[in-house]
Amino acid sequence: MSNTLEFTEEVKAKTLPIFNKVKSVIPELEWKNYAPWIYKINKLKQEKNVVILAHNYQTPEIYYGVADIIGDSLKLAIEAEKTKADIIIMAGVHFMAETAKIMSPHKKVLIPDMDAGCSLAESITANDIKKLKKKYPGTPVVTYVNTSAEVKAETDVCCTSANAVKVVESLGTDQVIFLPDEYLAKYVSTKTKVKIISWHGTCMVHEKFTASELIELKKNYSDLFIISHPECPTDVIKASDYTGSTSGMINYIETHKPKNVFLVTECSMSDNVQVENPNTNFVRPCNLCPHMKKITLNKIYDCIENETNEVIINPDVLKKARVSVERMIKIGRQSSLS
Ligand code: 13P
Ligand code: SF4
Repeated sequence: MSNTLEFTEEVKAKTLPIFNKVKSVIPELEWKNYAPWIYKINKLKQEKNVVILAHNYQTPEIYYGVADIIGDSLKLAIEAEKTKADIIIMAGVHFMAETAKIMSPHKKVLIPDMDAGCSLAESITANDIKKLKKKYPGTPVVTYVNTSAEVKAETDVCCTSANAVKVVESLGTDQVIFLPDEYLAKYVSTKTKVKIISWHGTCMVHEKFTASELIELKKNYSDLFIISHPECPTDVIKASDYTGSTSGMINYIETHKPKNVFLVTECSMSDNVQVENPNTNFVRPCNLCPHMKKITLNKIYDCIENETNEVIINPDVLKKARVSVERMIKIGRQSSLS
């Protein structure tokens, strides 16, 4: 398959409204490569009744060009269940595609690159959880959605960063096993009296940020507002002005309209939020998620056309994992802005 297509007059005209939206973050020269794919994907999507779910970390040409639903991992899980499409394409990472399959087991769920993983999901196995349950009998297990379906199946309830504290407190116990992100676990323990037993997983993107880099940046911008994701190290969160899920970060900017912002998270978030918030200046020493960046327009097209990379989950595992994800969805967000 060729990686380039022609930027014809028809392609140019049909994709112009999208370009007008994203031109502050995508140069015209780059657009000429993206537009033909966007045009072809949007046509094929209609022909095959496909829905594209895209995480907030996807690049703007995917996020604004071809996605039907955009959001954080909680929103993508909820929307996967509601869709009337025949095929779900997850423009995100593998655990998100599995969660979509768990919530829509009768739909075909495809991911444009099977290797789009996650360091957190890779940090723990179902066996690890079984051992922990033996060590702490009777203690409920809360699992971050950034885990495999097998891990979710061994869990009492899932959570995302948009509802972790609410989920922990919903159990009404003095202690919970909270997996696998050690920084998210530490963050949650600062917000609740429930004792948190944690694991040693980390996000390879967020663990790279340091408090000293934040302090250095504050020296250059006296009014810099720092917003971090709770997967960041504890001292980074302490040096931040606000902490929240990817949607919580977006909601904060849309509500409070800060002038200068540093989003302590994956790079594409700043581009995507910039498009909708032209008056905010985004300071960008961000880090890329190599897994999220495996998803590209040509891989999305290939995936829809050939229906490749289908996500398959053992039916028994799926049934058990669904209970944990459904419980999480029922609990909902910490607040309407989280
Ligand atoms: P959100 O649930 O905040 O979208 O985060 C998912 C993720 O993978 C962050 O690294
Ligand atoms: Fe996983 Fe971190 Fe990438 Fe999110 S940013 S998908 S937690 S590796």
